[in-house]
Amino acid sequence: MKQRIIWNLLLLLCAAPAKADEGMWLPSLIGARMADMQAKGLKLSADDIYSINRACLKDAIVQFDGGCTAELISDKGLLLTNHHCGLDYIQAHSTETHDYLKNGFWAANPGEELPCKGLRVRFLMHMTDVTAQALKGVTARMTGTERTVRINKNKAAILKAETKEPGTQASIESLYYGNRFYLFVYRVFDDVRLVGAPPSAIGKFGGDTDNWIWPRHTGDFSLFRIYAGKDNQPAEYAPGNVAYRPKTSLRISLKGFRENDFTFIYGVPGRTSEYLYSEAVRYIVESGNPAKIRLRDIRLRIMKAGMENDVATRIKYTAKQAAVANAWKKWQGELKGLTRLKTVEKKQALETQFAAWAAGKPEYDTLLPRFAEYYSNWKVYAAVRDYQTEAFNAIEIIRYAAAFAPLAGKSDTPDTTLIRRLRTHTADFFKDYAPAIDRQTCEALLTEYLRHVPAAFIPPALNDAHRHSGSVAALCDTLYARTLFTSREAVEQLLRQTKSERTRTLLHDPLFALYRQCDNFYKEAVEEPYRALQARIDALYRDYLRGLMAFQPHRDFYPDANATLRIAYGKVAGYTPVNAVYYLPQSTIEGIMEKDNPDIYDYNIPQRLRDIVAARDYGRWAGHGTVPVAFIATNHTTGGNSGSPVLNGNGELIGLNFDRTWESTMSDVEYDPAICRNIAVDIRYVLFVIDKVAGADYLLHEMNFAL
Ligand code: ARG
Ligand code: GLU
Repeated sequence: MKQRIIWNLLLLLCAAPAKADEGMWLPSLIGARMADMQAKGLKLSADDIYSINRACLKDAIVQFDGGCTAELISDKGLLLTNHHCGLDYIQAHSTETHDYLKNGFWAANPGEELPCKGLRVRFLMHMTDVTAQALKGVTARMTGTERTVRINKNKAAILKAETKEPGTQASIESLYYGNRFYLFVYRVFDDVRLVGAPPSAIGKFGGDTDNWIWPRHTGDFSLFRIYAGKDNQPAEYAPGNVAYRPKTSLRISLKGFRENDFTFIYGVPGRTSEYLYSEAVRYIVESGNPAKIRLRDIRLRIMKAGMENDVATRIKYTAKQAAVANAWKKWQGELKGLTRLKTVEKKQALETQFAAWAAGKPEYDTLLPRFAEYYSNWKVYAAVRDYQTEAFNAIEIIRYAAAFAPLAGKSDTPDTTLIRRLRTHTADFFKDYAPAIDRQTCEALLTEYLRHVPAAFIPPALNDAHRHSGSVAALCDTLYARTLFTSREAVEQLLRQTKSERTRTLLHDPLFALYRQCDNFYKEAVEEPYRALQARIDALYRDYLRGLMAFQPHRDFYPDANATLRIAYGKVAGYTPVNAVYYLPQSTIEGIMEKDNPDIYDYNIPQRLRDIVAARDYGRWAGHGTVPVAFIATNHTTGGNSGSPVLNGNGELIGLNFDRTWESTMSDVEYDPAICRNIAVDIRYVLFVIDKVAGADYLLHEMNFAL
């Protein structure tokens, strides 16, 4: 009896709610958060945020181009997102004579708006819990495979029954590791046009130097417009399409805000893992991130040297360098954050308590020992996988050659399609390729690969080639001298050959042949066992999460992000990054001038902006005698939340999310309210740039401003 009481007490102690401001909540269940949100400053009702019966905030939000968020800011389909989210399209329309990256772009009227091939946006129409249907016929005695087959069948039946109007998309996503299933129905628009973008000196101000950093002064925004058929329904691109008339659009607030004011974010976070077993976190901290950071250090160092020596190389490698550096910096922050928070130790403490609770409960009491067993195998494969992606496949020429694999084997894609694709791919590849950088990278990365991957997992073909050449340097020399993949002419000639000639050429190419042997070996020796293990681990997580929910009945469990629409809420707040320093939550235009430096590429602002600041010509966008530029808040966000609206308690737009501080990126695994901050550009700075810098004030007339 006494023991029972002690256990119950313990249980109560561990039943911690989600920490203040932590969580990415499902819109359809937002009602359960209302009391908390309203107590913190929300003035709206759950129906104002998500409703399937009437227009609500959800109808102003889209997933943009598969990986970002955007929002409607006019009743003529005008969309606001980040500059870095629109970058591919801004770049695609840029030429040497019309360099929209450098100078910005502003359509003076709808006729000048630029169609964007391949760009799609989608609205969530509704989300519905279909757990019961998805699990129909699933029993506890089924094997993992039987269960999966059954669920897939059920899912297919649900999707089939969902009447599919043209322009809609439906998918079923699992939440809480397969404990719940939701049907998501979307409306997809593919005629989306570029309306405006500031010069990169504003849209990417601070470049990679400031990326993930506070204080920040980036005007990271661009504007697009959704077009629809005359009936306002989704339609393929056609010159005669008209601006989409949405159910609703966001109102913009110019009133400003203060520290501690309530904010929330509506958007599409990509992926988080908040419920990991301790050993999975230990892997990130002790192996995964350190190895990946080190391998990217090497690549960045080689790129940097090449880019410093030559202007053409700098241009070729700008985007590649940015992409490599982005995750590199994020992983460092995550590593630092998880170490500081002692996440591994905290997870272990929780697991000890869970084990005591689970003792004697057959459903749960073998979970932790099985996690321990599976993870001890898993981490071996995971480490090899990291080297495969970050070392082997990071060699540009290998990745490029890999794209030709379907030509040498069986492929479902028709030959003519394959050839057409590879021609485009080849043009893109050589446009931005510097063989000297890649040759050096190859040597450095293969050296690391051979040194750190356990002998049993090194492809025999690679070992042989290495031994045969005598050294990694000699191996790389041979590969680069003899392969056809370093020569655009040779590749184009290959693409003109007959099918049998092509196969012969490819299989005789030393680089392609080596890639193929390594890849076959890797798939069998690493990828397959890894996937099998991961499937077993995921099945454990399903039970573990159900167990945790029973063990901590008062804790608010939110599902990990999985690229579905979510709401995060918190408040505008500064933070203390290191002892004795407090970061204020708002940056201003004076900060841009402090960083301004014509000699430093990342900090060289347009002259027009200098002139405006000198004249203090801030117009209606000023607050307290300056223009607010960016701010930070405690909203729990991740990659994919770029472009998400930051809203005030009335649901009015006050900013545009575009980043987190790098010290807070561990929030994908553990959120810390003291330090985790999202970074947004202030809507007043966005409007200031549109109005004063770009002179595109005509766009303001279609926006709605809150009174
Ligand atoms: N860190 C942000 C994100 O994760 C912005 C990346 C683009 N900006 C840059 N300077 N590379 O996507
Ligand atoms: N820049 C990120 C994005 O593109 C958002 C930053 C983050 O929170 O990871 O989604």
